Amino acid sequence: MSTLTVQDFAKELGRPVEELLEQFREAGVSVSKADAAVTAEDKIALLNYLKQKTGTATAGEPRRITLKRRETTELRLGGGRGAPAKTVSIEVRKKRTYVKPEEGAPALDEQATREADELAARAEAEREAAARAAAEADARRHQEELERKLRVEEEARQRAEQEAEVQRAKEQHERALAEDPLYRAKWEAERARMRAAENVRRAAEAARALAAQPAAVVPAAPAAGAVPAPAKKAPERVARERGAGDRQHRTELHLAEGKGGRREKKAKKPSGRVRVENVHVFEKPVAPIVREVEVPEAITVGELANRMAVKATELIKVMMKNGIMATINQTLDQDTALLMVEEMGHKARAVKATDFEESLEQAVAGSEADVERVLRPPVVTIMGHVDHGKTSLLDHIRKTRVAAGEAGGITQHIGAYHVQTPKGIITFLDTPGHAAFTKMRARGAQVTDIVILVVAADDGVMPQTVEAIQHAKSAKAPLIVAITKIDKPEADIDRVKNELTKYEIVPEEWGGDTQVVGVSAFTGEGIDALLDAILVQAEILELTAPVEALARGNILESSVEKGRGPVATVLVRAGTLKQGDVILSGPHFGRVRAMFDENGRPVKEAGPSIPVQVLGLSGAPDAGDDVVVVADERKARELAIVREQKLREQRMAQSQAVRMDQIFAKMGEGEVKQLNLMVKADVQGSAEAIAEALRKLPSGEVKVNVLSTAIGGINESDIDLALASKAIIIGFNVRADAAARKHIQDTGVDVRYYSIIYEILDDVSDAISGLLGTETREQIVGIAQVREVFRSSKLGNIAGCLVIEGSVQRNLPIRVLRNNTVIFEGVLESLRRFKDDVQKVEAGTECGIGVKDYNDVKAGDQIECFQRVEVRRTVSAAA
Ligand code: GTP
Ligand code: MG
Repeated sequence: MSTLTVQDFAKELGRPVEELLEQFREAGVSVSKADAAVTAEDKIALLNYLKQKTGTATAGEPRRITLKRRETTELRLGGGRGAPAKTVSIEVRKKRTYVKPEEGAPALDEQATREADELAARAEAEREAAARAAAEADARRHQEELERKLRVEEEARQRAEQEAEVQRAKEQHERALAEDPLYRAKWEAERARMRAAENVRRAAEAARALAAQPAAVVPAAPAAGAVPAPAKKAPERVARERGAGDRQHRTELHLAEGKGGRREKKAKKPSGRVRVENVHVFEKPVAPIVREVEVPEAITVGELANRMAVKATELIKVMMKNGIMATINQTLDQDTALLMVEEMGHKARAVKATDFEESLEQAVAGSEADVERVLRPPVVTIMGHVDHGKTSLLDHIRKTRVAAGEAGGITQHIGAYHVQTPKGIITFLDTPGHAAFTKMRARGAQVTDIVILVVAADDGVMPQTVEAIQHAKSAKAPLIVAITKIDKPEADIDRVKNELTKYEIVPEEWGGDTQVVGVSAFTGEGIDALLDAILVQAEILELTAPVEALARGNILESSVEKGRGPVATVLVRAGTLKQGDVILSGPHFGRVRAMFDENGRPVKEAGPSIPVQVLGLSGAPDAGDDVVVVADERKARELAIVREQKLREQRMAQSQAVRMDQIFAKMGEGEVKQLNLMVKADVQGSAEAIAEALRKLPSGEVKVNVLSTAIGGINESDIDLALASKAIIIGFNVRADAAARKHIQDTGVDVRYYSIIYEILDDVSDAISGLLGTETREQIVGIAQVREVFRSSKLGNIAGCLVIEGSVQRNLPIRVLRNNTVIFEGVLESLRRFKDDVQKVEAGTECGIGVKDYNDVKAGDQIECFQRVEVRRTVSAAA
């Protein structure tokens, strides 16, 4: 709510400002200027004063006074044993409301009553009326606000329901597709029908667009000065049209390419008539629209097409021309996407993932910038050695029996609970005490404000106690020591304190700065003192967070549950997480479908420091991942894809791709029983022949299994398939395209290139018979892309090339590839940079290549420079 000044208030009451100021002064309220702020208390004080003056103070409700006190004192901590003293400001805020009973109304003497009557009787009546009106208006506003909120909630609920409905229908559809062949056939027929209808629609659209063309050019040749009146309207209409129908216009423009003649002919026809219904096309740009397209580090084909405002099929066609086979949902890497954008005549702008992340951070920071920060509950992590009583302690605080329900009594995950203690809300994270969960515990320390170190009084400092101390220190979180099990006869608090000093933890009572509290989860002794210690520590930390902002937080745990999908426990750090928000966490995103508190009760929103279970993410993020609310679902999806790609690259680096040389090692261990192969060749005949020959290889212990034979270049989905089926790809006179090459690097899939069939057979039979011999392998040294072909009278055709990978070397054999298929094999005639003959040209540089005995090189071809190396097979290297 905005602040109310004296001036505003006077206006509201319909009184002069001076008079109001005077009254405030008399009422003892310290507002002296017209632009000073008036608080609710000020108003009440004024009202009370006026009531007193008029003697109406006892009318109505009992009087109520709210006092707020804020006291700031300084506390010196430490200073003993050479430790530097710390001065901490402690602010104590108190709020008290006193209600004075009616009979306590002050008796006024007659004199005062009369004076009041004279001075303010009328004014007061008016003012009271105004105050009442203001109060009524306030109530109305409140009510409207409430109604609005309810409406929004209702709408969100309906939306969620609809979404769930759609999801259910989708799932049902997919299930039916998978399980019911009849349904599938019907569906496919329906799709075909729809596609046909779409084609008809498009054709009609194109025809319409063509029909519109003549009118479009009519005014292009009017007599000077004679601008037809409707043309004036054109720019804005064009703008509108373009906004609404970009795609249509573009189609028109592309169509115009081939149909230009017809348009021109009509245009030349002298015609004075202007077809009014088509005037909006007058100033349509005749050049194709060049868009600047942002290309992130990874993008799906569909999304890329979307950004260029072309149909995905159109993009897929262009990609196919460039030897890239990808479906609409496949992800392209940035290089490929950039190339395709240029290919389609648009301008591409590469955007780094860090740019996205930054913009995301800015959005979050922006939403928090002008928002008031309010006190938030402390997040407390309980750490300590196994069985030192962490869960029991928390349990006692929560007054429920968590430990009893845990498998084996060992905490297996980060449990999170917010508890309303008699002294305020505290959020607890109970981390596992077992050494195996060290990593998880480290995450617990990152989100935590205060660490409670649990040390059993009968056991003392143990290895994981030390570990916990280190975690707390590296997280720079203040530590409170809870010495548990003090009810046990063998408990020795002083011994524990003594041991702790070795790790620079000195109890307050010994002159240090660590609060140490002895507790027993059995008797409840000391638990109040522990809660006090936490709240004192929290107060010192002044933990605040914005509430009215986009939420951000961390994943505490996540899983995929049957019937619920991915379920993530999120600790909100700042802002308010609401049902319906779009959230992004690691490589996953989604709309918050539902939220539950730690007791499984549904909640609509969660503020700072509150843990909630969230449904609706696209996958289960890792514990510790950030969670942010993103205003825009598209942005969220985009970032999720980029992050996913990054992760995949990392994961693939350690993936399970099979390599031929590993076969030897694995065979020894009896692990490999069959060798899966995929054959890709330049022509069907070779493919068949190779597959046939491979199948006929004498099989020893290992069976050769040809999974597929196909013709054409090796693409990304071949690599995916090989990865999934643990197969080796045999490329006979074909190569992997750019995207596939990258994929090969990422996945480590074994792709072998051959140009001689018996070499394939040799390699494979060697592999399956477990022979260790030498192996000739072809290594691609470099690839040059042919840009242009020049004719030279002396040297024949020279290919102007750009070396795109590795290097091209003068003395090595080469192959010419067209569409990833080998069309010529030979040697270099010449290799030049500018006018000079050179031995080697590195990636990124241009050169002229003359191929001996081959004059058919074309722009777009690739020249591959390769070498044959003999390698001795070793088992150890493969292991
Ligand atoms: P992990 O989760 O496995 O690391 O254990 P934890 O630290 O959560 O310990 P837990 O609370 O499960 O307690 C371990 C054992 O100590 C149980 O048998 C408890 O009954 C016992 N215990 C816990 N607190 C007390 C206490 O205050 N007094 C006594 N006498 N026994 C306790
Ligand atoms: Mg436990």
